[in-house]
Amino acid sequence: MVDLRDRDALEQIFASTKFDAVIHFAGMKAVGESVQKPLLYYNNNLIGTITLLEVMAAHGCKKLVFSSSATVYGWPKEVPCTEEFPLSAANPYGRTKLTIEEICRDVQHADPDWKIILLRYFNPVGAHPSGYIGEDPRGIPNNLMPFIQQVAVGRRPALTVFGTDYNTVDGTGVRDYIHVVDLADGHIAALLKLEEANIGCVVYNLGTGKGTSVLEMVRAFEQASGKQIPLVKAGRRPGDAEIVYASTKKAERELKWKAKYGIDEMCRDQWNWASQNPYGYGSPDSSD
Ligand code: UD1
Repeated sequence: MVDLRDRDALEQIFASTKFDAVIHFAGMKAVGESVQKPLLYYNNNLIGTITLLEVMAAHGCKKLVFSSSATVYGWPKEVPCTEEFPLSAANPYGRTKLTIEEICRDVQHADPDWKIILLRYFNPVGAHPSGYIGEDPRGIPNNLMPFIQQVAVGRRPALTVFGTDYNTVDGTGVRDYIHVVDLADGHIAALLKLEEANIGCVVYNLGTGKGTSVLEMVRAFEQASGKQIPLVKAGRRPGDAEIVYASTKKAERELKWKAKYGIDEMCRDQWNWASQNPYGYGSPDSSD
């Protein structure tokens, strides 16, 4: 493992093997932390990516798949979000995603040998069905599903529901949750697409196209786990949008990819991982 900002280490890796393409997942992703420590986010996410692009170019590897985020749609005026929607950034984390997208477009424009696919992830959740690989955030989880999971295994007393007065089916925020296995398949589809001629720099949403509220997700998880998730209702989380879900048409048409799993399978696989590994990759003593 190397830090992408460590040019010498990266050089060594690219000198050791001829890579056909790179999937760039590396980056920091906690919104709140990015507001507190913007320079950390700009340094890590932007410098890391620029160094990677420079070293790739120097070694003649000019095919890239980049993990972008639906965060670049901000609070969308309508749904589903299509790839052509106006883009904005509400925090430094989002600004790094938006800026990297723009850097990629500029790099490909300047040197048409590059082929770049920007994948805008919606809300990845679930775990590998084997139960061996899952999400294990450090500290208090920021995102909904890891939090629900930690309540279900008894590590936290209750889920705080951020906002019950949205204009949605039950007043809680609506998102497009996508199973991590579907998300992984989307990357395979993108790699195959990179083999085609003249793709330029192109962006695809990776979502299911379906919106689910916080309470619907809680109910699905309760069903899958047989555990009750106590709730504490709270005000809206600053910066949260009301309803965000993807248009999946472009990915279906051009990547020949479509999500297969629904929220029941996401919750089933996440519970399978959580119940077998209640402390993730750590132990009760190392957790906080
Ligand atoms: C968040 C980030 C987004 C990032 C994405 C993936 C914010 C404002 N946005 O998206 O930039 O790309 O994660 O990492 O942080 N919720 C609760 N209680 C909780 C946690 C969440 O009610 O303890 C609600 C939220 O208000 C929201 C929904 O659950 O309605 C999903 O939240 P979350 O999992 O954090 O994802 P996003 O906010 O969509």
